[in-house]
Amino acid sequence: MDPIEEFRTLFAQAQGVDRALLPDPTAMSLATVSPDGAPSVRIVLLKGVDERGFVFYTNMNGRKGRELVATPRAALCFHWAALEIQIRVEGNVEPVTDAEADAYFASRARESQIGAWASRQSETLSSMDELRGRVLEVEQLYGNKPVPRPPYWTGRRVLPARIEFWHAGAFRLHERRLFERSGESWTMRRLFP
Ligand SMILES: Cc1cc2nc3c(=O)[nH]c(=O)nc-3n(C[C@H](O)[C@H](O)[C@H](O)COP(=O)(O)O)c2cc1C
Repeated sequence: MDPIEEFRTLFAQAQGVDRALLPDPTAMSLATVSPDGAPSVRIVLLKGVDERGFVFYTNMNGRKGRELVATPRAALCFHWAALEIQIRVEGNVEPVTDAEADAYFASRARESQIGAWASRQSETLSSMDELRGRVLEVEQLYGNKPVPRPPYWTGRRVLPARIEFWHAGAFRLHERRLFERSGESWTMRRLFP
């Protein structure tokens, strides 16, 4: 009756599948909502999961970042086709700590760290040359020094209130189990497919 534990078991299974069949089990759709209720969705990578929730990192000045500041709620969706599994997660969103964000940023490739400074995520870009120019500027700025984490680049944790596991079944008799948070524990019910 612990859907996080179940998620971790399935995630480990997905990580064991041949990359040609399941290229990246950490890829997940992240849906956010604008102040007037318009949804938007994009892929981000899962960078951590534990009893507290599901962590991803991003540029908070971009569209998703601004939407999450205005409305700190999100939905995630994983589709591991090779396992015929879909997992949906919904809940409130909270910032990770600066220490967590620093640690993850420090673990990234230097090129990615430079890219985080060079990119004005979701703003209009005149050409790829403009982006390459900004990368060169950042490279020159830091030289051989460590690249610090940009203040606008950090993580968010989705605190799951609902987690649904969908397993493909024969003849469309798919199995759906919805876990809903109730205080410190979870309730589970099945849904028609
Ligand atoms: C496989 C894949 C992984 C991605 N991972 C991330 C990620 O972890 N964080 C991120 O901010 N964007 C990631 N992106 C880019 C986002 O999909 C998106 O284009 C970008 O974050 C801008 O979104 P926004 O304008 O809604 O803020 C990824 C894209 C793909 C295709």
